[in-house]
Amino acid sequence: MSDVKECTDCVVSGRRDFLFDSLRAAAAVIAAIGLAPLSAEAMPVLIRSLSSAAKEKSYPIPAADGVQIDKDNEVILARSGKQVYAFALSCPHQNTALKWEAADNRFQCPKHKSRYRPDGTFIEGRATRGMDRYAVKLSGGTIVVDIDKVFQEDLDKAAWQQAVITVP
Ligand code: FES
Repeated sequence: MSDVKECTDCVVSGRRDFLFDSLRAAAAVIAAIGLAPLSAEAMPVLIRSLSSAAKEKSYPIPAADGVQIDKDNEVILARSGKQVYAFALSCPHQNTALKWEAADNRFQCPKHKSRYRPDGTFIEGRATRGMDRYAVKLSGGTIVVDIDKVFQEDLDKAAWQQAVITVP
């Protein structure tokens, strides 16, 4: 019989720690080899919501393709072409924080290696659906994310597909 006890806080703190460790490691590698990133858009950018409303978080419209992460609200804001998506930070399989793999232009889960396209579409791995998407809308020149409305592709495919905004 094992004396090991399950840690109920490990998933949340672990995924946050992993995310920031990954960002620090990437920055350290870039600094060490003396190279700038391929583009400013390639690396995830840490952001904060412009609003403090309980369920609606607003962000500036990303100016270019790339991934931004609001760790406080566990939101990934991603622009791909003229489409902008807001994803839940956690993997739909077992809630590990997802990583953006800029070199491969995809999201990847560090735990079981599920992979997703920039629009959150599932590619391969243990997950069984795309990345969960929040409801998004444009309002007053900002992107508003309703973190109370998250759509799972396998439960509500139509809403999941519509959870995108097209920007000018
Ligand atoms: S937790 Fe992401 S694939 Fe298992």
